[in-house]
Amino acid sequence: MPYIPERFPRYKDYVMPPFPALKKDLSGQYDKIKNFDSRDSDILICTFPKSGTNWVNEIISMMMRGSAEYDTVYKHTAMLEALNDFGALEQIPESTTRILNSHIPLGDLPPKHIENGYRIVHVMRNPKDVAVSFYNHMANIKDMTTMKPSTDFPISWPLFIEHFGQGEEQLYGGWFNYVKTFEKAKETGKLSNVFTIYYEQLKQDPMPILKALAAFLGVEASDELLEEINDKCSFQKMSTIGEEGKDNTLVKKMSTTGKNFLFRKGEIGDWKNWFTVAQNEAFTSLIETQMKDSKLKFIFE
Ligand code: A3P
Repeated sequence: MPYIPERFPRYKDYVMPPFPALKKDLSGQYDKIKNFDSRDSDILICTFPKSGTNWVNEIISMMMRGSAEYDTVYKHTAMLEALNDFGALEQIPESTTRILNSHIPLGDLPPKHIENGYRIVHVMRNPKDVAVSFYNHMANIKDMTTMKPSTDFPISWPLFIEHFGQGEEQLYGGWFNYVKTFEKAKETGKLSNVFTIYYEQLKQDPMPILKALAAFLGVEASDELLEEINDKCSFQKMSTIGEEGKDNTLVKKMSTTGKNFLFRKGEIGDWKNWFTVAQNEAFTSLIETQMKDSKLKFIFE
């Protein structure tokens, strides 16, 4: 039996989550992404899953609106690979900046966006916490076809971490491939207009990053507004579903357990509660091998 069930679509050499749009017409969906009519005002958030996409999306949305009020348009309505209706994005007036996001590997992102050097915000997070977060996401989300609890994936944590990042069957092509491709593209100048955020740095010392991000986006934001945005985008506030926090309808609809798989713990180093000593040794050694030619440095605790 493959590590990831057959019901997950395969594109090129990687596996994708079973989003209805991909299940319906895999190559058609990728064609739509390929032919996407990017605009020079677009902002594309590029992340490997579970690296802080929703968090950064909210920060950018607040910056662009000049207000620390939560966005009423949810992130998943602008996630390219999951979109059911590209028309809705096309209808957004040119005067409104579109904040798009995607987890697909760099080579499959809209060529017009990449080739013209339109803005990209790239978020990275250490792979141990990404693995734990990804596992919990998959363990608490309904099967998107039946809308019932998924019984075939993820497999147990030990098997999940054994396969995460190695072997042929990798979701979105795997974490290592994702971050290394971006690193190389930046080094070689294929990507020029990129603002890179490390999840851990954003968590530990947000204000300098928020200021630099605002400058990258061309937004004039007072320190007071940035402080307010930082406060509203704290994990504690974003994870509170209800009147006080972000009204997360997607989680309510898709969680099988009631657990919030988008705003779960929001910590650095939760991997220590999941990895055994042996799993940690094996995964650390995998990181060393895979990242031996990389200059990227991650914070693990
Ligand atoms: P955990 O599962 O470790 O808690 P994505 O948005 O890319 O799916 O990433 C989800 C991860 O980011 C989850 O990690 C989630 O809790 C964390 N996260 C979301 N909002 C956050 C915030 N405001 N501050 C810190 N972490 C946040």
